[in-house]
Amino acid sequence: MTSKVIPVPPFDMVIFGATGDLSQRKLLPALFRRDASKQIPDAARIIGLSRLDYNQEQFRQFALDALNKFIPAAELKPELVERFLKRLDHLHNDVTKPEGWQPLRDLLNEHPERIRMYYLSVGPALFGTIAKGLASVGLNGANDRLVVEKPLGHDLASAQELNRQITTSFEERCIYRIDHYLGKETVQNLMALRFANALFEPLWNANAVDHVQITAAETIGVGSRGGYYDTSGAMRDMVQNHLIQLLCLMAMEAPYAFNADAVRDEKLKVLRSLRPLKGHDALRNTVRAQYLARSNEPSYVEEAGNPNSHTETYVAIKAEIDNWRWSGVPFYLRTGKRLRSRLTEIVVTFKEPSHCVFSNIHAPLQPNKLVIRLQPDEGLQLHIMTKDPGPGGFRMHPTALDMTFAEGLGPDWRMPDAYERLLMDVVRGDQTLFMRGDEVEAAWRWIDPIIGAWEDTGAKPDTYESGSEGPIASLELMARDGRRWREMVV
Ligand code: BG6
Repeated sequence: MTSKVIPVPPFDMVIFGATGDLSQRKLLPALFRRDASKQIPDAARIIGLSRLDYNQEQFRQFALDALNKFIPAAELKPELVERFLKRLDHLHNDVTKPEGWQPLRDLLNEHPERIRMYYLSVGPALFGTIAKGLASVGLNGANDRLVVEKPLGHDLASAQELNRQITTSFEERCIYRIDHYLGKETVQNLMALRFANALFEPLWNANAVDHVQITAAETIGVGSRGGYYDTSGAMRDMVQNHLIQLLCLMAMEAPYAFNADAVRDEKLKVLRSLRPLKGHDALRNTVRAQYLARSNEPSYVEEAGNPNSHTETYVAIKAEIDNWRWSGVPFYLRTGKRLRSRLTEIVVTFKEPSHCVFSNIHAPLQPNKLVIRLQPDEGLQLHIMTKDPGPGGFRMHPTALDMTFAEGLGPDWRMPDAYERLLMDVVRGDQTLFMRGDEVEAAWRWIDPIIGAWEDTGAKPDTYESGSEGPIASLELMARDGRRWREMVV
């Protein structure tokens, strides 16, 4: 199967913070790949903005270095690289100075009819200033799109303030809040699985589902990001956005159509149905911990340079959704750094058959499981009970019906990076895979009291061994309900 490329209309993209890490690691490589696939029309321009005094040549060299670093050499065909670099220009701009906006406007007004995308790859403290600066020179019309990325606030109050600042200058329909998890191929496939197939819908509820597990495990520690991370922690860095988005897509009702507001309305309903976790309930239903040192790697507090840090690098939560479909079905979420494997997956465990006709056979039946693997080896597995082959009696064992997408899609298929999809969606004006302001706020509304309960105890988080599956307390969180986490094996 080959991927069908539908060209997007001509656009100008402006990257604020163009010489930063995100631009180098993700944005420029993603744009190159879309260009190489001929999705980007000849006329499109990419304009880097930064405080560096780069000229066009220097910025092109910066981009070339980024491609060499983050894209395999075999993909970097000279004619494709040349075509891409020709699109690039650089403007020196200090966004805090009013006089900086006129040159940008003049450049963009060479093609006033084009879609214009402003990617704010800068700290959120500048979002409001940049949105206002763009509006001050009229770059906030129907064709102007503002793209922002987390951290979208530190709590509900700051998220509301951020939303206020950007919506003062841009209409909500022109704001694209990125959660890169929504651009992952398997996350979109989750919607296809649920809403393009009749098979699972009758089972997708409290009658048939025992519980759901959502895991995002990483093997790396915080490394050089310790400074940022220590003000954030796993709850704000991963749960408030990525894990909650996955929970919403799993739990939401079918939207009336696959369009941005219909999908986001349904996700919002899930967020509003999350049972609040406050005070004692929050402490009882969550676990937080920090990783310890191992032979040649420092502990979290050493990496953060803060021996008294209370910041968690691991979180597990038992969440409940108080609505008709999911009443009584826990959604267990966990995420952490320096764990045993790098693995992101959702596991739906179904209830056991109502009556076991095989009670005379000494091998307990195991419940069916649907495993939706986001990374690595994106795909689906359905675990069912089957009979051991052969005439030697009647024995049962669990078998996985395995559909790894890479196998189905053939050897030439490359799983696109989330940013490739998301950037082209911005140009197309499709907000379906972006978070609306009220969604972000609703997620904070649920998260804030949990963090508040942790802070109120004044206690430090638990600890866990680097390379393990997390702290003992997270096993207990499940064991208390007679359940277990799925092993983190890839
Ligand atoms: C980012 C977090 O949003 O997601 C990082 O800030 C984390 O801390 C990353 O490592 C994980 O993303 P992925 O795509 O590698 O699962």
